[in-house]
Amino acid sequence: MVNIDIDSIGEDLPLLEGIRTTRSIRRLLPDPVPVELVRKVCEAGTFAPNGGNRQPWFFIAVMEQARRQYIARLYRDTFERYISPAREAAKSPDFPPDKRRNMKAAIHLAEHLHEAPVHLFVAGWTRRGQPQTQALFPAIQNVLLACRAVGLGASLTTAHRAHGAEIDEYLGLDPEKTPTAALIPIGWPRGRYGRPTRRSIDTCFFVDRVDH
Ligand SMILES: Cc1cc2nc3c(=O)[nH]c(=O)nc-3n(C[C@H](O)[C@H](O)[C@H](O)COP(=O)(O)O)c2cc1C
Repeated sequence: MVNIDIDSIGEDLPLLEGIRTTRSIRRLLPDPVPVELVRKVCEAGTFAPNGGNRQPWFFIAVMEQARRQYIARLYRDTFERYISPAREAAKSPDFPPDKRRNMKAAIHLAEHLHEAPVHLFVAGWTRRGQPQTQALFPAIQNVLLACRAVGLGASLTTAHRAHGAEIDEYLGLDPEKTPTAALIPIGWPRGRYGRPTRRSIDTCFFVDRVDH
């Protein structure tokens, strides 16, 4: 992937098609991603709605290999502790196949996170001592959609939070004032984008009042 035109890449994908085909891409190539392209997807994040237009966000793209290895070690540790029971449950024949696929992909990410060329963290100011995660998630979704548009693979993760303070400090953030909310591993995808598995809108759409 050389000679990318940063200004034009991703500008022609219809919005709704992009929304419908943005799924978690957790199998990533280790090839480098231009920092200008990472900047572009983060800029999309800054157009998100946010309370009082306070724009509380920070986007920190960790690209140096040794730093990614450090983060991956902590992420894997959390994953092993919290997800291992679910991994056992997934061995049961009754476990739904789409959930099993999802779990396998999540495990793959945990085992290969150090190879993802970009570990993008989204952090934000706290308010009255509370993390404002709800102010960050629209921005995070915009970043995921922008990755889809430019052809980068990405997924939303939060498992790093079990080591949140340690990682925040490692990134130069104050865990009390500007904690990280999400880690978005980004890279060129090994697979392809496509429609995620979702139940029909007819199971969750109502007019005027909910009828059961
Ligand atoms: C708040 C939140 C936290 C998440 N944390 C993780 C995570 O730590 N690790 C991970 O692999 N995926 C994480 N995910 C991604 C979901 O697992 C993913 O959206 C779900 O598996 C559906 O996958 P799909 O979007 O590809 O259909 C998280 C998603 C949300 C909304």
